[in-house]
Amino acid sequence: MRKIVVTGGAGFIGSNFVHYVYKERPDWHITVYDALTYAGNKENLKGFDENRFSFVEANICDEQAIDEAVSNCDAVVHFAAESHNDNSLANPWPFVETNVVGTFRILEATRKHNKRLHHISTDEVYGDLELNDPNKFKETTAYNPSSPYSSTKAGSDMLVRAWARSFGVKATISNCSNNYGPYQHVEKFIPRQITEILQGRKPKLYGSGENVRDWIHTEDHSSAVLAILEKGTMGETYMIGANGEKNNKEVVELILELMGKDSSDYEHVNDRPGHDLRYAIDSTKLRTELGWEPKYTDFRAGLKDTIDWYKNNRSWWEPQKVVTEEKYKKLGR
Ligand code: NAD
Ligand code: DAU
Repeated sequence: MRKIVVTGGAGFIGSNFVHYVYKERPDWHITVYDALTYAGNKENLKGFDENRFSFVEANICDEQAIDEAVSNCDAVVHFAAESHNDNSLANPWPFVETNVVGTFRILEATRKHNKRLHHISTDEVYGDLELNDPNKFKETTAYNPSSPYSSTKAGSDMLVRAWARSFGVKATISNCSNNYGPYQHVEKFIPRQITEILQGRKPKLYGSGENVRDWIHTEDHSSAVLAILEKGTMGETYMIGANGEKNNKEVVELILELMGKDSSDYEHVNDRPGHDLRYAIDSTKLRTELGWEPKYTDFRAGLKDTIDWYKNNRSWWEPQKVVTEEKYKKLGR
């Protein structure tokens, strides 16, 4: 493999993946294919040699443009998506369009040109778990999505499975848990709380804050995706997770402590409708079959680095912050 196309490579996880692969595979050429929606930012993709990196500004729903990009590569790593649950509740259509129709376009292009595809999905397709459920999500767990976001991601996974089985598309899927790290949009939980504190306001906890997420550093997501891309079995699904379960209240308290504030100095705001209670990942298959291990196992240290990144990159997030908080204000969140 020498030439890869990374859809959604100007977003949070996609751009971290591009930096990771650029460093780890010096003989590869990377093309980022991204529509630069509100979530995409070319600032995330600085410092690359033009012999090894190119950028195509286009929509994955654009049949001709995606066909051309796919025809010129060895493999596609498909991150592009509408990714935020709260937005999907306010306006679901862009989620159906990008996540379902866009993935369909990519599948048709990879089928036509016989190219390798890795599809990035989420643990949310499996629904949620009770707080005391001993069974975590596995590759065999039944799909049971709750939100417009997770249902469109589930739909896209189903398309990939069908195209792999019916048409022999050389595809793999990964379902990862909640990522944290640099370049994450301030609409998401951790960056929102850090930037609220940096702007002199209180963190905002939805509902009681007992909801649990299974946190993984975005670089560990990148190393897992690269392992699957290179060593995964065609047609297979792999869960990606780093045993990082924490409830939202614990995370907010830790952010406050790491930023030198009183750990009880947050406020409760309106809950998210249909709010999933708990996600938890069993990544045994990825670890045993492909030998993957996470590197960032100390959440406190990873969170501290992330806080420092937001402190040092105010010009990156300040322009997004005003618009984002206006949206939340209307929702009472
Ligand atoms: P993001 O919202 O930060 O970035 C999405 C990127 O996709 C942006 O650059 C955007 O411009 C681009 N994009 C959106 N619609 C497009 C379209 N129609 N055509 C071309 N480009 C388009 O998202 P993220 O948090 O980096 O998530 C990336 C992927 O990882 C998504 O598929 C998401 O479902 C999945 N995922 C995310 C998490 C998480 O914690 N954020 C966890 C598991 C899986
Ligand atoms: O599990 C993987 C998923 O993680 C990805 O597929 C999604 O793309 C990604 O956005 C994320 O979804 P969540 O809905 O879990 O992430 P979010 O950052 O929106 O919220 C995390 C938790 O924090 C959730 O329980 C809601 C809560 N929350 C969120 C915000 C923005 C708050 O309590 N306060 C907030 O201000």
